[in-house]
Amino acid sequence: MQKFQLYINGQFENGAAQFDSINPATGEIWAKMPEARTDEVNRAVDAAEQAFYNASWAGLTATQRGKLLYKLADLVEQAAPRLAALETTDTGKIIRETSSQIAYVAEYYRYYAGLADKLEGSLIPVDKSDMQAWLVREPVGVVAAIVPWNSQLFLSAVKLGPALAAGCTVILKASEEAPAPLLEFAKLIDEAGFPAGVVNVITGFGPECGAVLSAHPKVAHIAFTGGPETAKHIVRNSAENLAKVSLELGGKSPFIVFADTDMNSALNAQIAAIFAATGQSCVAGSRLLIEASIKDEFLQRLSERVQRIKMGLPDDMQTEYGPLCTLKQREKIQQVVQRSIEQGAKLITGGQVCAGAGYYYPPTILDCTGVPDAQSIHTELFGPVLSVDTFITEAEAIQKANSTPYGLASGVFTSNLNRAHRMTRAIRAGIVWLNTYRVVSPLAPFGGYGLSGHGREGGLSAALEYTTTKTVWLRMSDQPIDDPFVMR
Ligand code: NAI
Ligand code: MG
Repeated sequence: MQKFQLYINGQFENGAAQFDSINPATGEIWAKMPEARTDEVNRAVDAAEQAFYNASWAGLTATQRGKLLYKLADLVEQAAPRLAALETTDTGKIIRETSSQIAYVAEYYRYYAGLADKLEGSLIPVDKSDMQAWLVREPVGVVAAIVPWNSQLFLSAVKLGPALAAGCTVILKASEEAPAPLLEFAKLIDEAGFPAGVVNVITGFGPECGAVLSAHPKVAHIAFTGGPETAKHIVRNSAENLAKVSLELGGKSPFIVFADTDMNSALNAQIAAIFAATGQSCVAGSRLLIEASIKDEFLQRLSERVQRIKMGLPDDMQTEYGPLCTLKQREKIQQVVQRSIEQGAKLITGGQVCAGAGYYYPPTILDCTGVPDAQSIHTELFGPVLSVDTFITEAEAIQKANSTPYGLASGVFTSNLNRAHRMTRAIRAGIVWLNTYRVVSPLAPFGGYGLSGHGREGGLSAALEYTTTKTVWLRMSDQPIDDPFVMR
């Protein structure tokens, strides 16, 4: 049985208690995880606060901070196979995906390493001739980075990268569902040579560990990724510390296919959009909106291809499709699929829990045409369920695309340039992918509208989110200051 440790103030420790972590491919316990409770959280925040003011971190030049981030990027790249194997065991995400994703995570650290010494202040041309005024850009303070279990190295990099580039210190809270990869990542932080307390890595349960951390008076910024219900707790908790909050939440993203598109590309992209990561992706293209004239052909080819997806053990490089991360998740998905069928949705493929060990659920397609209330259209399932609906006009496609309270991502497949632009303008979502899906880059901001959250991760603006400005006034005149009661 493998054992993991917390990383607080530059030391590895066992936590207040231990809890089991399950391998979703077998349903068996494979590791013991360290639980951070109130005392551990408080010590991690204290360490981050002390490190924030300590000369060993605060005294570094921005270029030196960048060098530490470059070092971390190299270590992540070297450790990618090991981190990927741990993520695959703990979450069930297939090794093909975890290994390529983690190798790319290094690029995020490199991008923010390069940005560290480019976060400049500015001179303000004030309307007073004897005054000089300027803005200094400073790190915002102690950051609580709270992440879910999926794509956790990526979701940590888009928080740690900009926060450390800006000069903040961080408490990174891994999800209790599968904390292994981030607890292992703590060793790289240590090896890269960040001073003690600059980055602390903990895990524990939401109601204690997460709640104490997000309400902590010394926390200045909460960077959260997770579900909308948890986000509401975070916002309430932040009433205690009035911390700045950024939220990356769920989605019910539309995948819109016009009849004028290249059908092969649209089919392949739709499969990746909803069945990659077994659908457990915030940007999953979980609602197919298809032009009615091509529906039958598209669905027939889609279901034929979907049935050939190779399901298997996630650590096998040949496997294309693995289990869900938790049993609870599988039960929820099964309930919503059943309910949608009762409501009138037609099951095209999948829809039955897989027999045998592990939390497997097959790729599932529900034709919800004519069943606008079908639960699967409105609920973020965070699983491999595609709900299909049709449209005849562009206006109908837009109306259906925007018919959920979410607004994270969207995909539009069309060869008509004018239509692509009209759709882009009309869709209410933080990302529009035209004739592609699921592309990300450290240079491109990422985030949502509405219930999908606010704030953007990635790109230059994300680094500015971890800074605050100080306005400095200087009176340049050599003349003495006048009597204060003679106002000019
Ligand atoms: P979750 O919301 O249950 O948990 C996320 C984190 O919040 C965990 O670390 C958990 O321990 C912590 N937490 C729970 N209760 C808390 C509380 N009261 N106070 C503070 N922290 C608390 O998320 P889950 O179900 O593990 O992940 C799936 C969700 O995350 C989906 O809704 C998905 O769409 C969303 N997500 C969004 C992404 C984005 O970038 N927009 C990316 C990946 C996932
Ligand atoms: Mg696990």
